[in-house]
Amino acid sequence: MKSNKATITFDNGAKAIELPVLSGTLGSDVIDIRALGQHGYFTYDPGFISTASCSSSITFIDGDKGLLYYRGYPIEQLAEQCNFTDVSHLLIKGELPNAAESQGFADTIRAHTMLHDQMSTVFRGFRRDAHPMAVMVSVVGAMAAFYPESSDIANPEQREIAALRLLAKIPTVAAWSYKYNVGQPFVYPQNRLDYAANFMHMMFATPCDTYTPNPVLVKALERILILHADHEQNASTSTVRLTGSSGANPFACIAAGIASLWGPAHGGANEAVLQMLEEIGSVNNISKCIERAKDKSDSFRLMGFGHRVYKNMDPRASMMRHTCHEVLNELGLTNDPMFKIALALEKIALEDEYFINKKLYPNVDFYSGIVLRAMGIPTNMFTAIFALARTAGWVAQWSEMITHPEAKIGRPRQLYTGNIRREVLPVNQR
Ligand code: SDX
Repeated sequence: MKSNKATITFDNGAKAIELPVLSGTLGSDVIDIRALGQHGYFTYDPGFISTASCSSSITFIDGDKGLLYYRGYPIEQLAEQCNFTDVSHLLIKGELPNAAESQGFADTIRAHTMLHDQMSTVFRGFRRDAHPMAVMVSVVGAMAAFYPESSDIANPEQREIAALRLLAKIPTVAAWSYKYNVGQPFVYPQNRLDYAANFMHMMFATPCDTYTPNPVLVKALERILILHADHEQNASTSTVRLTGSSGANPFACIAAGIASLWGPAHGGANEAVLQMLEEIGSVNNISKCIERAKDKSDSFRLMGFGHRVYKNMDPRASMMRHTCHEVLNELGLTNDPMFKIALALEKIALEDEYFINKKLYPNVDFYSGIVLRAMGIPTNMFTAIFALARTAGWVAQWSEMITHPEAKIGRPRQLYTGNIRREVLPVNQR
């Protein structure tokens, strides 16, 4: 990385501080503030909006231009031309596989899709109405107990095995979370099926009937998984990295990522979008909803709109809208009322001064819920599918962090605003 300098000067006559400015291959330069502590200063950046927490070569986002690259490849090309296991190979290993590597990677994943049989008891500890995300957080965390060797994170072979186990088993965990929720028996993975088809089989097959996944829906799900696979240092990925920086085992790290993704401001938004569209109920109610979203005294947010980084259309939202059309056409649901409300809401919002001025555009969650719902996936499983997809990115980011020469335990500081020193008084003097 080429570098130049930044100088901080102080009005109070304190000595100026010079800091290196570093450049990556794409995107913003960064001011390297690591030496700032020696001068008695911290930076202050709640929510890390202006903070680069690491250097990474996995995913690049340009929020102003609405660009998203995985290892340099534009998301639009990957979603159109690749399958999810090839994209997972790209994220984790840095390159798209050739035909032999693709087959080998997919076969390895297929051979590890089963859970340890005793894990089914972890599911049974829950009430049937437990949210699938609560089950996934617990089951993935519990995997550390079934694979204790995965704690040996200094061992490259153990790291590779844990990464593959997570990638291979997360669809089974997600599908079984659903089956448990609806009171149906667990359906075992079928090694003859590809990744997305295997997941749909585990979700919708029952012992009483043969189930053949619709190839159009499988392709749509494949695209949804690719679009959600990674996204730079978002809240859940940063959670995975911070957890991993303490040396925690990979299952604990991914469980922490699932927990963070669950929030409605993050991965939980796709579920919240459907609830919002159902609440709107009719195109006639859209303007009222837009006014509520603009009203600062109202905590209501237009779910699926806005983004911490994108100040332009989220490239994934455009592809999700396109996938929506494909799936609804395939299923003869082009008159789906939710889709009509969503299209109308997007049009009205994008013409509204508030959204234009604040650069609020639909994000990946705005359309994904409509597609998943049309595919027969219940709303409470939407974030579980986001977690399924994002496990590829989390595993890639965790692996990069663990082996990075700058890796150290994450330990942010603070601006202290509490009491100055004071003495404890006996209780009868308080
Ligand atoms: C994901 O980080 C990632 O990469 C996340 C993700 C990934 O792939 O990992 O992309 C996945 O989480 C997508 C986002 C899903 N969340 C939602 O759709 C929930 C609705 N969106 C908002 O909660 C919000 O937009 C956030 C949380 C996504 C971003 O919040 P910010 O950073 O506060 O947004 P901002 O700074 O751009 O907001 C600018 C202004 C603010 O008003 P002012 O303080 O300037 O007056 O716009 C307002 C915000 O209050 N605003 C909204 C709004 N989003 C922001 N107003 C109404 N509706 C909204 N959706």
